[in-house]
Amino acid sequence: MKKIGVFVGSLRKGSYSKKIAKVLVSLLPSNIEAEFLDTGVLPLFNDDLDPNGVPEWNRFRNQLDTLDGLLIVTPEYNRSIPGALKNAMDIGSRPTNHFGGRVALVVSDSIGNAGGYGANHHLRQTFTTLNIIPVQRPEVYLAHTDTMFDEHDMIKSEGTIGFLQSAIDAFVKLLYVTSLSSSVGEF
Ligand code: FNR
Repeated sequence: MKKIGVFVGSLRKGSYSKKIAKVLVSLLPSNIEAEFLDTGVLPLFNDDLDPNGVPEWNRFRNQLDTLDGLLIVTPEYNRSIPGALKNAMDIGSRPTNHFGGRVALVVSDSIGNAGGYGANHHLRQTFTTLNIIPVQRPEVYLAHTDTMFDEHDMIKSEGTIGFLQSAIDAFVKLLYVTSLSSSVGEF
């Protein structure tokens, strides 16, 4: 059994990213447990408050310590990742790195044409310093999310669902071949 944390970059109620995340979780095999992490409750990172942190940060850091992998579904905000997601990454990186050695699948999305390409790669840049191991391929950029769903919040295109299943399969495979190493990435 492996456990993954699901991060949704958007905080809004009707978020397409959230709908995509729910579809992705439904495609996971039964030996993977998924827990949605709420980045919206995390006060802004301030180094002055560490090493003891604040209760919300500490709860989040403890949650990260239980995870084998991360599923991150995020829109692009101004060609980068949303602030709430970056705040969560910063909090989880201190006072020691709580992300080290975790496997991650990145899914970026947009109502526009480019599928959140900029956000996807900014996130991968942060992964390097945190020693998060990304699923390299398939790369998942989902465009035109505003026309992607039916009235039951299901993805209409069978081709898209098949593609997402292939991304989940690659994620699960990497989760099982990668041994956890949390002692790296300190600075
Ligand atoms: C956006 N959006 C956007 N889209 C894009 O393709 N590239 C971008 O750089 C941006 N920038 C951006 C900034 C901000 C502050 C907002 C609110 C939106 C549009 C974005 O793709 C769209 O709002 C998505 O629907 C947001 O994702 P959720 O909330 O549906 O998950």
